[in-house]
Amino acid sequence: MLPTRSILSVPGHVEKMHAKALGSKADALLFDLEDSVPPEAKADARRMVIRTLQSAGKQTPQLSVRINALDTPFGYRDLLEVAEAAGDRIGTVVIPKVNHPGDIHFAERMLDGIELAAGKPLPIGIEASIETAQGLERIRAIADSSSRVKTLVFGIADYSASVGARLVSLSGHGEKEDDIYPGHRWHYALSRIVMAAKAHGLMAIDAPYGYFKDDAGLEKAATMACALGCDGKWAIHPAQIDTLNRVFTPSAEDIARAKKVLAAADAAEAKGRGAVAVEGRMVDQATVGLARRVWEQARALHLFDAADE
Ligand code: COA
Ligand code: MG
Repeated sequence: MLPTRSILSVPGHVEKMHAKALGSKADALLFDLEDSVPPEAKADARRMVIRTLQSAGKQTPQLSVRINALDTPFGYRDLLEVAEAAGDRIGTVVIPKVNHPGDIHFAERMLDGIELAAGKPLPIGIEASIETAQGLERIRAIADSSSRVKTLVFGIADYSASVGARLVSLSGHGEKEDDIYPGHRWHYALSRIVMAAKAHGLMAIDAPYGYFKDDAGLEKAATMACALGCDGKWAIHPAQIDTLNRVFTPSAEDIARAKKVLAAADAAEAKGRGAVAVEGRMVDQATVGLARRVWEQARALHLFDAADE
């Protein structure tokens, strides 16, 4: 799978941001038709996003569109028009506030029909945004609902509202959470999303961090998401991309550690041993699995030179 360390959300109706985003170092862009676009600008945003997708060159981050929720007057039309006019330019569509596998079935049928009408494959994946109590309760069925589902995304602010949790910062997106709750306030929700995603071979992506001038806060939130198994995190401002790319990239130290573990495991196997001691620590097959994952990530990000391979 392609890396998705940083996914920059770009308001659909702010065309000057489209160009800036296309030239950014984000792994993926998400042209937003939902919450960053006011109702009176929805139709314009749809047209602008389609125009941008159609004219984007080949060397861009991966491209995606967040449609409006399917229980609004806009969602079905977003999906129809974007997939018909620019379905060959996007890898996925993000469906917000997925509450039920039926939401995915609806989108899947629409995409299947658009694909048949186009007479060519349109392998558009679905990213299901889990941001309500209903969505989290039905997450297993949602993750399992269609082969088009590729990713589960955490929608932090809507989830907080949905469960009646208090707004503790201006943005409601990740800041000051640990002031009012010991530990990670959204640990359960995020871990549940990660677990459902990984059980079904999907990516798990964390919500954005709203205070875009607070790099230390972003780094901390991203590090926690990475520690829980997330594959990346949304960004809402270009200034957040470098930090996200760095946090979700295995460090030189991570790679050196993985290398040591794999070498020790090879030596252990030669001696007919499952577990072996390395620098006073036990390394067994489970450690090897973890080290292989780091190795695979590093390879996918082209961090090796030929000598390492
Ligand atoms: N994508 C692309 N470019 C962006 C951007 C984004 N998400 N956010 C800011 N920029 C650009 C600005 O246009 C500006 O470009 P310029 O220097 O060429 O004029 C530059 O980055 C600096 O922007 P800045 O002035 O610091 O931000 P702002 O005050 O204009 O906007 C936000 C702040 C939060 C309103 C804006 O970043 C934004 O709209 N983010 C996305 C919101 C969103 O998508 N929400 C839904 C998902 S949760
Ligand atoms: Mg939301």
